[in-house]
Amino acid sequence: MSDVEQELASIKALQASLKQRLDDDQAVLQQLAKRLWAQQESEKAKLSRELHDGIGQLLTGLTRRLQALSQQSPELATLHSIADMALHDVRQLSRLMSPTILDDLGLKPALNWLCRNLLEDEAITYESHIDLPADIPKDISILLFRIAQETLVNTVKHSAASTVTLSLGHHHNVIRLDIIDNGKGFDTKQVEPGIGLSSINDRASAFSAQLELISAIGKGTRTTVTVPI
Ligand SMILES: Nc1ncnc2c1ncn2[C@@H]1O[C@H](COP(=O)(O)OP(=O)(O)O)[C@@H](O)[C@H]1O
Ligand SMILES: [Mg+2]
Repeated sequence: MSDVEQELASIKALQASLKQRLDDDQAVLQQLAKRLWAQQESEKAKLSRELHDGIGQLLTGLTRRLQALSQQSPELATLHSIADMALHDVRQLSRLMSPTILDDLGLKPALNWLCRNLLEDEAITYESHIDLPADIPKDISILLFRIAQETLVNTVKHSAASTVTLSLGHHHNVIRLDIIDNGKGFDTKQVEPGIGLSSINDRASAFSAQLELISAIGKGTRTTVTVPI
């Protein structure tokens, strides 16, 4: 082997070992990111229970007592309906913070519940087509649920859409989720991602998932996630 060839071979070996180290570091970082997201979920679950058992219980008591009194005057009837709305909001917040339906019944019922809860009150009609493989890891279910949640909240908050379609399917070892709204859309190059979009992007990378957001003014918004399982 000539000197040049030897030199080339050692550069190649160095390159390969650097690449290996980079891959290893990447894998460690990804594990760390997954742990952080799991920790965030368990903090949310704690907070959700406290909301439900604390303020939620107090408001339940208050609402019942005001209901009993509500026949006595229109003012008491108004107070009863305000307390009832507050109770509804606290329950909704607590459930969205930690959707126990995901643990109890699985991703499909949880996604249908999410659409119902977020879209029906807003009079947005929706369709959902969900076809899931039998056993998907829990952390992937949580990832897909949280991405759907953030996307649908954005639809409600920003899109002025009248219809939304949520489709979830799988092919080989990849799950694909599409959420499409027919709203006003936005220029993805001009609009800075806020906390919501940044967080679903970070979350997707922790699971080697691809997140794609296609939108144009007047043309609605499509969010697509593909995740290997
Ligand atoms: N479905 C949508 N329709 C129209 N605009 C959207 C939609 N989703 C996101 N956007 C735009 O992207 C921006 C960033 O979203 P996000 O990161 O979730 O932050 P936030 O919801 O707090 O504003 C929004 O403020 C909005 O301008
Ligand atoms: Mg948002």
